[in-house]
Amino acid sequence: MFDQLFQPMDLGGQTLPNRLVLPPLTRSRAGKDGVPTPLMAEYYRQRSGAGLVISEGTVVSPQGASYARVPGLYSEQQVRGWRPVVEAAKSRGAAVYAQLWHVGRQAHSSVQPDGGRPWAPSAIAITGWQYRSPQGRVPFEEPRELSLDGIKDIVEQFAVAARNAMAAGFDGVELHAANGYLFDQFLNSSSNQRTDQYGGSVENRLRFLNEVIDAVSSFVPAHRIGVRISPSSTWMDAFDPDKRGLYSALVRSISPRGLAYLHLVEPGIAGAIDSADHAEPITSAELGALFDGPVIVTGGHTPWSAAAAVGAGDADLVGFGRLFISNPDLPARIRMGAGLAELRHEGLYGGGATGYTDYPELQTAN
Ligand SMILES: Cc1cc2nc3c(=O)[nH]c(=O)nc-3n(C[C@H](O)[C@H](O)[C@H](O)COP(=O)(O)O)c2cc1C
Repeated sequence: MFDQLFQPMDLGGQTLPNRLVLPPLTRSRAGKDGVPTPLMAEYYRQRSGAGLVISEGTVVSPQGASYARVPGLYSEQQVRGWRPVVEAAKSRGAAVYAQLWHVGRQAHSSVQPDGGRPWAPSAIAITGWQYRSPQGRVPFEEPRELSLDGIKDIVEQFAVAARNAMAAGFDGVELHAANGYLFDQFLNSSSNQRTDQYGGSVENRLRFLNEVIDAVSSFVPAHRIGVRISPSSTWMDAFDPDKRGLYSALVRSISPRGLAYLHLVEPGIAGAIDSADHAEPITSAELGALFDGPVIVTGGHTPWSAAAAVGAGDADLVGFGRLFISNPDLPARIRMGAGLAELRHEGLYGGGATGYTDYPELQTAN
């Protein structure tokens, strides 16, 4: 019934064993200084039956981080920590990509290396949501506006992190341009009121993303760079009066670059949860049709909807976030038509093995 999901395919010159993706999932189990741990290797090994494994959001600099115990790719120690994790994720033939992340104005002065307010394209605070601090929810702060040199530094941070990702054994990188983080803050006019070459016209708002792709391409070939966007989401105040025009222009702009893939978050998802609150649903079929290359869709999928999307040619690969957390052997279960376990909220972010590596695999007779 799910045969389409088990057809191998080529992604950036690698043969993926199936069409199932472990999408990026922040689980906050890194050690001190954002160094990956042996427990993380066990978690990724359990989920290595996917065709493509994308790492949890991995910050390109301390300045780009917002949450505790998130891994990074800016230090030698982190590169060393990632190696066994990447090896474990590759153990059953998956391609393994690192998701590169800078949160921009979703950070807070309490976690900035210089104790100052976070950095963003413009000095506009998020007002519709609150920052989750260890002491509870607090208002987001007005960010500091990035100077041209500040932007150049961040472009460089992405390039260095991409180089480090390859040194750690990753097959490629995914740029996290979804969910209202830094790329999305440049893209949407509600968070970008700049009057220089990074603001104003859609072409200008796309400049930061394209410059990062250029810089990353010095270390990772274009056919190993993926881009993730969430075109319908207004989560974290990602507002724009013309989302359809904005993201269509984005896809048209990156399409000729020969990238590994376009990763689309489906309408109806706000960050990590379901939401009916999206201004203007833009279907993945519509945007994917503008992209000349493999398309991944993630968000609210079941094995049935995934098979339908691949069968209809609307997507090449389908990500399962919450279902892959609770079903480490999800590909095997789908193939067998077995039942799926439900997510427990305990241990979703932070903690140890509980809620992380203790979801059982199906018992098979032997
Ligand atoms: C615990 C958790 C952490 C997440 N962390 C990330 C992340 O680091 N980067 C990202 O792009 N999306 C992140 N997401 C969003 C997922 O990749 C995915 O888009 C979302 O869960 C919807 O897919 P699903 O309905 O299959 O769960 C996270 C979601 C969850 C549930």
